[in-house]
Amino acid sequence: MKVLVIGASGLVGGECLRIFSAEPGFQVAGSYFSFPLPALHQIDTLQPDALDRWAEEHFLPDLLIQCGALTHVDRCEQYPEESFRLTVQAHRNILAFCKRHGVRMVAFSTDYVFDGRSGPYREEDPVHPLSVYGRHKLIVEEETLEAEPRHLVLRITNVYGREIRGKNFVARLLWQIKQNKPITLRLPVDQYSTPTCAADIAAAALLLVKEGQSGIFHIAGTDYMNRVELALTVLRICGYTNYDLEALPTHKLGQPAPRPLFGGLIAHKFKERFPQFIFSSVAEFVKNNKDQKTD
Ligand SMILES: NC(=O)c1ccc[n+]([C@@H]2O[C@H](COP(=O)([O-])OP(=O)(O)OC[C@H]3O[C@@H](n4cnc5c(N)ncnc54)[C@H](OP(=O)(O)O)[C@@H]3O)[C@@H](O)[C@H]2O)c1
Repeated sequence: MKVLVIGASGLVGGECLRIFSAEPGFQVAGSYFSFPLPALHQIDTLQPDALDRWAEEHFLPDLLIQCGALTHVDRCEQYPEESFRLTVQAHRNILAFCKRHGVRMVAFSTDYVFDGRSGPYREEDPVHPLSVYGRHKLIVEEETLEAEPRHLVLRITNVYGREIRGKNFVARLLWQIKQNKPITLRLPVDQYSTPTCAADIAAAALLLVKEGQSGIFHIAGTDYMNRVELALTVLRICGYTNYDLEALPTHKLGQPAPRPLFGGLIAHKFKERFPQFIFSSVAEFVKNNKDQKTD
């Protein structure tokens, strides 16, 4: 199978590139948007013909894994036009390419399509995004499945893992701990989610693709914790005490984008199909990575 990963310079795309590339018989390439990495191809998805030009020069993929988006939730709220361009308009160009060539797509969405009143959520729960990011991701999911019901939309949340820039919360905290300097944290005590390991997401995507699955699936770990508990899990497992943690309600943090408070996802549909699949816990990930380089 020929696979192109858009957004392979990011957390989820990087893991998809790694895991799909290890699959026998798969030919896999990855793209970046603004953060060049040696093995990746620059593809400017804002240009409607960029993917066609890339495919002429390299290969026409059977599958496109679409991880590209503006993922900084507060930036999306402050710059909605930029969010729309990078997340929705670019995605439309990618969808059009897939339609022209009959390419299947895996697209990623988020628990921010829900309002956080009653999470963790199942696939069939009603959506009600609170933020620009959530609204734009909902447009992406709806247009993806309207364009081609055989596409796959994976909703994910609070992703952690090893990545080149180490920008996810857990990786950044591990990095700070390794610097062995005082750490100051101001975190919401009321934002709950289901932290999920990026490597698990990529492995789950591979299983679903190999089974030819389509539609919406939630892919989520089984931890259900707030941001303070997440930080404390990392700090305790590392035995790190040189920190000052202020636990605050969300309304005192002044975050530009509203957050779903009881967010998170239940991967019941995925687990019904793959009952043997075990999602990593945050604790396991930290134990396995606390002594390794995170970047
Ligand atoms: N991380 C999470 O907790 C989380 C939660 C829910 C959903 N998701 C979704 O999962 C997907 C992957 O997220 P991530 O965590 O891997 O994010 P990430 O680390 O911020 O990576 C985003 C990737 O998208 C690329 N990109 C940005 N704008 C693009 C565009 N217009 N066209 C093509 N590529 C573009 C970036 O490229 P450059 O860096 O090279 O510019 C980067 O490779 C996104 O759809 C995101 O909304 C993530």
